[in-house]
Amino acid sequence: MLCHCASGSSLQLSIDSECTKFDGQSRQALMRYYPTIGEDEHKETEVAAMFDAIAHRYDLLNRVLSFGLDCRWRKAAIRRLGEQKNGRILDVATGTGDVALATLQLEPMEVVGIDIAKVMLMSARHKVARKFLGAPIVFVQGSAERLPFETDSFDAAIVAFGVRNFSNLDAGLRSIGRVLKPQAPLVILEFGQPESKPIRAFYEMYSRLILPRIGRAFSGVTGPYKYLPDSIQAFPHGQGFLARLQECGFEDTFAESLTFGIVSLYTGYATAGDHSD
Ligand SMILES: C[S@@+](CC[C@H](N)C(=O)[O-])C[C@H]1O[C@@H](n2cnc3c(N)ncnc32)[C@H](O)[C@@H]1O
Repeated sequence: MLCHCASGSSLQLSIDSECTKFDGQSRQALMRYYPTIGEDEHKETEVAAMFDAIAHRYDLLNRVLSFGLDCRWRKAAIRRLGEQKNGRILDVATGTGDVALATLQLEPMEVVGIDIAKVMLMSARHKVARKFLGAPIVFVQGSAERLPFETDSFDAAIVAFGVRNFSNLDAGLRSIGRVLKPQAPLVILEFGQPESKPIRAFYEMYSRLILPRIGRAFSGVTGPYKYLPDSIQAFPHGQGFLARLQECGFEDTFAESLTFGIVSLYTGYATAGDHSD
């Protein structure tokens, strides 16, 4: 079964039966746009196809599914980038460009948004053309694991809800570390696991039962909204993720919990390491 359901008595039972229903009704439809959970060499193509399939509804669904909290989470992340006047900011996994556009408030010299998904980037470019014409922002198609930029060329980097989808997390983090100047901040927003049991139970129910239905109603596909909770559950969070950041060359790392731990905000600073690999 595809669903990695919540552990725990009656909630477990009801979620299991919901998952069976989803699987039973349209297993084929469910398999569409459901990338590999964890790290895998084919994941990049699968992830890009998934996001391109929902790009037309991505912003709307973000607002609806998070009750508008996604804007607050992004604002908190941007604050952690610190003073960036005249700096160069990299937004990795920029998607439809909301984070990249929000960083303009820091008055950087340039913002570069990079993403593997072509249609997501088209939406980002349309947004700039519609509302931010002339802003110092460029969007590039490419992968976090192989950033096509010079070493030590950015003053700050941010990844919002992207690292969980990387096909190779360490390669992505190291690649970001390479293009950052020493001591430049990397700020990462990612879904976490709420610590309080009642909140976790509610969150599980919401993300397994309600979210896939709303996602399907708006976008016409279920796979991405089943992948979301499954990939969150499988991804390292808290101290586990901080350890990965440190192993990949970041220092002074710390994590903050947002909205009962539903989202984690990680910050670390690039070191002047050996970037030869
Ligand atoms: C959940 S969206 C987040 C978009 C945006 N940062 C936001 O906050 O709305 C994740 C994005 O990560 C991109 N992505 C996933 N893996 C990537 C990789 N290895 N390199 C670059 N972008 C990647 C996807 O294409 C998708 O647009």
